[in-house]
Amino acid sequence: MTAAPSLAMAREPAPRVPALGAHGAADVSHRVILYLEDVTVTFDGFRALNALSLYVDAGELRCIIGPNGAGKTTMMDVITGKTRPDSGTAFFGQALDLTRLSEAEIAAAGIGRKFQKPTVFEHHTVFENLELALRADRRARRTLFATLDGAARDRIAEILELVRLSGEAGRLAGQLSHGQKQWLEIGMLLVQEPQLLLLDEPVAGMTDEETERTAELVVGLAKERSIVVVEHDLAFVARLGGKVTVLHEGAVLAEGKLDDVKADPRVVEVYLGR
Ligand SMILES: Nc1ncnc2c1ncn2[C@@H]1O[C@H](COP(=O)(O)OP(=O)(O)O)[C@@H](O)[C@H]1O
Ligand SMILES: [Mg+2]
Repeated sequence: MTAAPSLAMAREPAPRVPALGAHGAADVSHRVILYLEDVTVTFDGFRALNALSLYVDAGELRCIIGPNGAGKTTMMDVITGKTRPDSGTAFFGQALDLTRLSEAEIAAAGIGRKFQKPTVFEHHTVFENLELALRADRRARRTLFATLDGAARDRIAEILELVRLSGEAGRLAGQLSHGQKQWLEIGMLLVQEPQLLLLDEPVAGMTDEETERTAELVVGLAKERSIVVVEHDLAFVARLGGKVTVLHEGAVLAEGKLDDVKADPRVVEVYLGR
């Protein structure tokens, strides 16, 4: 059993976000929400990312596939400020240089990330998990909780509905199925109203039915925000229907419609043929 996490996070000082007027206001006037250009990350001389360039348009639902070790998670680490590139450029919209912001600043600027393993608060109810996420959000802390508790409850109810957990609001998160925990975690990210959502292998370990429901959820969420999904399950990727990028050895090997990249001999060679 893991200990219940401390609630101290709700009292941490608000993150500082330079050059950003309103929360979640990345400048996407040039259509592109995410620019990675020539990004290189080395670990002890090994190039986990090798001059990677990748551009995601505002409103896109992009899938990233590729063999283990291709650099998919490292790419997400660069976008979220967890790993600093040795060289290259990483921008959120026109104005936010991701290589100069902290992880907290990047989250506050509107990039939400779901890790592969669900990290919900198991000893709290589903509702409380969302409440904690809301309290951790600095705007919510200033507005919703100071004056409008009803509005906060409405927002939580809305998110529960969206992630299909309205019927589970009073259950302990630890009692949810693996798939339900993943949805709860997505709900906790939605509290921050991210403009860009990063999902690392969201359907790993899910049943077929959970996978299908997750596809519906992600397609629905993509109507109002940009999403980048890393996933090995190609049936799920097909179901999402967006543009696909194949990473290999830290760079883009192929990009386009799933059927086209699947037919690319280089992709068959390094990924599908195994
Ligand atoms: N912190 C680290 N230290 C050393 N090597 C790492 C570290 N993180 C990732 N790597 C290496 O970088 C490469 C890319 O890893 P990763 O981004 O996790 O790939 P993927 O998510 O596509 O499977 C792998 O060879 C991995 O072993
Ligand atoms: Mg990975």
